[in-house]
Amino acid sequence: MEATAGTPDGVSRRRFLRRVGAVGGATALYGTMEALGLLASPANAEQDTFEPLREGDLNGAAPKVAILGAGTAGLTVAYELGKAGYDCHVLEARSKPGGRAMTIRRGDRLTDTDGVTQVCQFDQGQYYNAGPSRIPSHHLTIDYCRELGVAIEPMVNANAQGFYYHENTTTTDYGPLASTRVTHRQAKADVYGYICELLAQAVDQGALDELLNAQDAERLVELASSLGGLSGGRYVGNNRRGYSEPRGAGDQPGVVAGPPPSMSAVLQSQLGTRFAFEFGFDQAMMMWQPVGGMDRISAALADAVGGRRRITYEAPVTAITNTGDGVRVSYRSNGRARTLDADYCVVTIPPMVLRNLSSNFSQATKDALAVPVGANSGRMGIQFKRRFWEEDFDIYGGVTHTNLDVSGIYYPSYGYFQRTGVLVGYYSGAYTNIPVPDRATRAVEQGVKIHGEVYREEYDNSFSVAWPKEPYSLGAWVSWPGGRGAAYQHLLQPDGNVYFAGDHLSYYTAWQNGAFLSARKVVTDLHTRATTTAP
Ligand code: FAD
Ligand code: ALA
Repeated sequence: MEATAGTPDGVSRRRFLRRVGAVGGATALYGTMEALGLLASPANAEQDTFEPLREGDLNGAAPKVAILGAGTAGLTVAYELGKAGYDCHVLEARSKPGGRAMTIRRGDRLTDTDGVTQVCQFDQGQYYNAGPSRIPSHHLTIDYCRELGVAIEPMVNANAQGFYYHENTTTTDYGPLASTRVTHRQAKADVYGYICELLAQAVDQGALDELLNAQDAERLVELASSLGGLSGGRYVGNNRRGYSEPRGAGDQPGVVAGPPPSMSAVLQSQLGTRFAFEFGFDQAMMMWQPVGGMDRISAALADAVGGRRRITYEAPVTAITNTGDGVRVSYRSNGRARTLDADYCVVTIPPMVLRNLSSNFSQATKDALAVPVGANSGRMGIQFKRRFWEEDFDIYGGVTHTNLDVSGIYYPSYGYFQRTGVLVGYYSGAYTNIPVPDRATRAVEQGVKIHGEVYREEYDNSFSVAWPKEPYSLGAWVSWPGGRGAAYQHLLQPDGNVYFAGDHLSYYTAWQNGAFLSARKVVTDLHTRATTTAP
């Protein structure tokens, strides 16, 4: 989907609405706002009430703001403050923007905290998102794609052709379906089928009489019959499961795959417990991705804030000092120690990294920064010589969910029909402490269990990111032990002239949406202070 030309952006949108209100009155304004998605609705009710800044919002000299980190949050702060003319400068330790919104392509090089360097060998044009890969329709991330002109396309987050696969563990026996790949369509037909059969029988036998009146009992049986694909109140399988002999022309009616496994086998398999994933508010289709990789958003943000004029890369910050009337940031660049003085500072460096830096923050701030725990997760992109998942399995995007340590295998939602392709071979913390060269061997072994030897035969090369070992992340995202308590609340306030932002300071941890929301909150807080008090 291309970003629509002419859609009012954050600033012009308000002017546009004022015009509509003046010409057409309240009803026209309401209709237009509804059409633009600006009114509270189940989808957008939880978003913030951010008012973008405008040129002219600053009455006096532009305050200087040092922004630490050119990830989603830092770049958004620079972008939004820049709209009012704040004099922003971003310091970023890595050599490019995006932070965790990292897309890995040919030639990309990463050195982890063990000192192990990988260089990506994917074919030109192939990539995988090592961090964020999906954007739900209701996230602000989509709005920023629209505003910045970042083209988006569907990200297939659920696919009837994908597999579920459960292998027995020392504690759980998954029964006859253990170590069997089952397509999503088959698992859904069987799980819904049997649950609905039980429901219909329970109603028939009067087991729910105390809960249902006669009419509702009838309606429930009707619902069960349609939802479960029952015949005569029983689940005996149906073509929702697919065909074992395909339908064809002329005299080839095909053979429906079946009979289904027994109800007991289906329950014992526990495959139905996997369905909850795609019911999640933030995981349900439609899901989106930027065309060309998730880092297209930060690239567009970096351009919009002024590129290298306003961002210094390969500039790791070493110290942050409140000076009384401003902030002094110490960093390294081109092998030299340097400083950046500003009226305000916004720190988006993840807390696991920030707490190791030198600062004169209050003890309460230091204590708060010590609380969040970095999550253990990582992703491997595997390039295969042939897109066997498309050619042999009819899988075009989507996910295989499994209890193997790879957790999920994500088939690419781009590049269909190309010769080679890169899928995500694991999305898991189980590989973090496996030495880099052994990760691929293990991930391929797991993939073979589900897809067969083709997974080994067509393997070409791979690249893995273990987020706890990324020196400028030290974790995939944070968890707040015991919930968002005093430490979280403390970091929502500035320490002197230093503000904190990032997805960890939102109720959208592990989503770019959280980074956007947190950035916007800090922009509002800082602007309110800058325009009501002297720095
Ligand atoms: P970061 O991106 O971490 O930015 C912090 C910046 O600070 C970085 O650029 C870093 O290099 C820099 N920095 C660190 N130390 C220093 C220093 N000393 N000096 C200077 N700069 C420094 N979100 C989604 O929307 N959809 C998803 O599907 C999704 N999946 C995810 C999967 C994984 C595996 C991971 C890891 C994340 C995922 N996320 C997802 C979350 C998303 O990546 C984050 O919410 C978002 O990128 C956070 O942005 P940020 O600016 O708060 O932090
Ligand atoms: N938000 C992250 C994901 O969807 C964790 O994978």
